[in-house]
Amino acid sequence: MANNKVQEILTQALEDIKTLHKGNIEEIVNLRNKYLSKKAELMALFATLGKLSPEERKTLGQEINEARNRIQLELDAKQKEAQEDLLKEKLEKERIDISLPARNYSKGALNPFYIVKNQIVDIFVDMGYEVVEGPEVEKDLYNFELLNIPKDHPARDMQDSLYIDENTLLRTHTSPVQARQMELRKGQPLKIICPGKTYRRDDDDMTHSHQFAQIEGLLIDKNINIGNLKATLELFLKKLFGQNREIRLRPSFFPFTEPSVEVDITCASCGGKGCNMCKGTGYIEVLGGGMVHPNVLKMNGYDPEIYSGFAFGVGIERIAVLKYGIDDIRRIYQNDIRFLNQFKKKD
Ligand code: DAH
Repeated sequence: MANNKVQEILTQALEDIKTLHKGNIEEIVNLRNKYLSKKAELMALFATLGKLSPEERKTLGQEINEARNRIQLELDAKQKEAQEDLLKEKLEKERIDISLPARNYSKGALNPFYIVKNQIVDIFVDMGYEVVEGPEVEKDLYNFELLNIPKDHPARDMQDSLYIDENTLLRTHTSPVQARQMELRKGQPLKIICPGKTYRRDDDDMTHSHQFAQIEGLLIDKNINIGNLKATLELFLKKLFGQNREIRLRPSFFPFTEPSVEVDITCASCGGKGCNMCKGTGYIEVLGGGMVHPNVLKMNGYDPEIYSGFAFGVGIERIAVLKYGIDDIRRIYQNDIRFLNQFKKKD
């Protein structure tokens, strides 16, 4: 026969457990106190066991234990559930929404100088040229003499120089790298470009700067002729300025090339008809080049009977000025944010 009191307590406890609020640990603790602590009614029933016969004691003892275990199990389950609910709620609250757009940041722009330099280098690297460098403080030997410009040669006047001592100067062009590379390759074919800074004792104005930059090109191999030079420069300039531009080679003079050429492209403004931009000629000069002079080959260890080659020199700022219609070369160096922002990449 089941004990009424125990059943009553158990029923009440299960009722109470049903009314628990979700995630409320405090209520669970209260019920634990109410039903399972030493002072709980159920526990008090244990004290009455002593007065009973062994038979009754055993039955009632078992009943109390069962009721207590049941209540404990139910409360444990509720507690576990509540703890999980709390954790879930906390995780939900602290969730980072990675789908939110990133905070705005201010983007810089590459100086047009570097835009153009990178483009030129990329075009020649695509054609298989190797990129090399040379010193900016250069020996007179490499800057002039090995390029067929001996001491007292009038061509030196074209390049007002900044000398450090009698035999050392800030290089006036990137051409000394030609002599340095020929020395290094000891008569082997080569195909190089050299971007770098150059210096001249110019007064700075809208089109001149005492420091500027060039990209030198040099190719030496067997059977190289001026057609190769023209094809190379045409490919280069059309990639850089657009396929609709025509190129023109004009005879010129450089001591280290023979024949020498000045290379023009059709004017962007008039397309070759002649306008103010091109002073009515239809063309704009972009670079100098030519076939490597036999003296230069010989002086630098190449047999001109076997080898021939071409060379060219491009002014980087000049290309930037032409390409972007920049009105004053000095803007390239002034770091004016209003100027630079115009070269921001569009998203
Ligand atoms: N070094 C020349 C200058 O600064 C440019 C130049 C012309 C370079 C002809 C060359 C060349 O390699 O073949 O004016």
